[in-house]
Amino acid sequence: MSETEVHHAWLPPVAWQPIGSRRTVVIGTGALVDTVRNEVAQACARYGGKVRTARAGAGEFDLVLRTDPEAGDGGGYELSRASGTTTVRAATPAGLLYGLFHVVRLGAAAFGADFPARTESPAAQRRMLDHWDNVAVHPVMGQVERGYAGGSLFWRDGVLRDDLSRVHAYARLLAACGINAVTVNNVNVHAAEARLLTDRLADVAALATVLRPYGIRVHLSVSFAAPTLVGGLPTADPADEGVRRWWREAAGRVYAAIPDFGGFVVKADSEGQPGPFGYGRSHADGANLLAAALEPFGGVVHWRAFVYNHHQDWRDRSTDRARAAYDHFVPLDGQFHANVVLQVKYGPIDFQPREPLSPVIAAMPATSLAVELQVTQEYTGQQRHVCYLATQWSELLRFPLAGRSVAELAGGGLVAVSNVGDDPFWTGHPLAQANLYAFGRLAWDPGADPGALLDEWISLTFGPDDPDLRRTLHLMMDGSWRTYERYTAPLGVGFMVRPGDHYGPAVDGYEYSRWGTYHFADRDGVGVDRTRASGTGFTGQYPAPWSDVYESVWSCPDELLLFFHHVPYGHVLHSGSTVIQHIYDTHFAGAEQAEELVARWRSVPVGGRVTAELHARVSERLGEQVRSAREWRDQINAYFWRKSGVPDEHGRPLDATAPRAAAFPVGVEDPAFDVDGRATE
Ligand code: GCU
Repeated sequence: MSETEVHHAWLPPVAWQPIGSRRTVVIGTGALVDTVRNEVAQACARYGGKVRTARAGAGEFDLVLRTDPEAGDGGGYELSRASGTTTVRAATPAGLLYGLFHVVRLGAAAFGADFPARTESPAAQRRMLDHWDNVAVHPVMGQVERGYAGGSLFWRDGVLRDDLSRVHAYARLLAACGINAVTVNNVNVHAAEARLLTDRLADVAALATVLRPYGIRVHLSVSFAAPTLVGGLPTADPADEGVRRWWREAAGRVYAAIPDFGGFVVKADSEGQPGPFGYGRSHADGANLLAAALEPFGGVVHWRAFVYNHHQDWRDRSTDRARAAYDHFVPLDGQFHANVVLQVKYGPIDFQPREPLSPVIAAMPATSLAVELQVTQEYTGQQRHVCYLATQWSELLRFPLAGRSVAELAGGGLVAVSNVGDDPFWTGHPLAQANLYAFGRLAWDPGADPGALLDEWISLTFGPDDPDLRRTLHLMMDGSWRTYERYTAPLGVGFMVRPGDHYGPAVDGYEYSRWGTYHFADRDGVGVDRTRASGTGFTGQYPAPWSDVYESVWSCPDELLLFFHHVPYGHVLHSGSTVIQHIYDTHFAGAEQAEELVARWRSVPVGGRVTAELHARVSERLGEQVRSAREWRDQINAYFWRKSGVPDEHGRPLDATAPRAAAFPVGVEDPAFDVDGRATE
């Protein structure tokens, strides 16, 4: 692969060989059925098989793909194999497309022994990726906010890309893992992006044209202030009839251009974005304004619950950012229109490697909720570190928050911030492709085993017949999220990252800032008291039994202890270790595990689908991971040793005698800009 070529990710041509070398019939009509037929036809052109559009004699085909109203709906399909024929039946053309990709995943096994019919249907109807892509390059955040894979697939230097062939390839990859909705611009809507709703709508329509054949609907992040920013109105007040009319007309124009448009995503009254508070209105008023405009066309509003005071005084212990979403939104339960989906980040803070689940997810039974994850690795190594996140997501989605799993409570769907860019490997770190793949698959089936999903991804990407590579990748990736957790922030404390770019350690980086993310370490102990008894009362936002489990220092799980409690360094964990010794031990172990990755990867020979470029790219990233993990280890250990004065039980060096590492990674400057570079009002 040359640098200008694009990596095939989980759809290499050879993955189509089992289908492309056989005889297939595709029965049904509609644009997505045409996509199915075209995919099979392309595979056959390459591998010598045949595709027909009408059914001939029984037994004449190896693969039958047909839409059938009796196959049940829900967007899924039925797959079976009998008497030498594999059959996919789906009520909808989209279901047929997903059924086709299931056959691709199975490979030769789809045409082996007979198997009884099994029905697959998606758990979440909307399986969505949000792109934090800016149309115009932002002076601080760049082309893609929190993007670690180059530029945007959609936009470049203020305009839509001329060549959308990467978007076409992306659409195929997304359909192959079950994604069916994409938001094409950043939730922080700046001046150029606000105009996507109006005079730059044709750009959005062009993207919709490319994504549509793969069953992907386009959504748009809009500014709540659009009526004033791009509509020339004096106000954006939801109670103003002129504003209501403006949104209705804007939505009408969008649907005239994009009949299957998905809807709006809105970040309002959050980190400097405008919102209904500016007019003395509630978030229900704000969301319903947009919902009413979209409702006649069947569109939805994804209204984000990420609302908190980002001008907090660190001296103020009564304000707790963790409480904010619940305090703002739970009183509004029942007030949102049916086509509002409240989009809630999985944790109450911000995509940290370890957080408890947001209690909002269990507290709004009369509101449609979507849970938001972060595939882009803002806080989990920025696609320089191996961090397979499906392990974390699976744990979160299965968590029984209120007698029901989080996946069940997320009736409004699953959303994640995308990790792709115009990088030849799509995701910067080639192994980070697995996160995107697994997100789609988990949105379809939250019960899927993360290890099995990794297997799928390995088989598709590298081929099914390389047991050594498979074993090595499992060894490197299965436990990588926990490894990352070990060498970064301990016991759920979070946010010990460098302000601004959020990469690398800075234990006190946010400790005296306005962002509300503190750890309160002093000479005696560390952690945030969020109890009802003596802290911020956040534990009271949880349903039973979690409100009590988290309230008590004795029942709180170790990994979340410092999220909920301020404890002395000598506090003994369930594991038997003290907090301080746990910090030292995990940081030594985590950095060592990062070092082991290098040797494991070195054992992988270049050859086949492990090209020299891919091998080199992974090696380069691993070098940085090791450097960074050591830096984390040394800064965290030195910090807590200096604070606590407690030595390591095993006598390992904690401070000045520890090996030195460069203060900042090569090529990454200590940011001179203000924290996070967002609008500060
Ligand atoms: C994080 C991230 C921001 C982003 C925000 C959001 O805070 O650092 O870049 O805008 O989340 O989710 O809106």
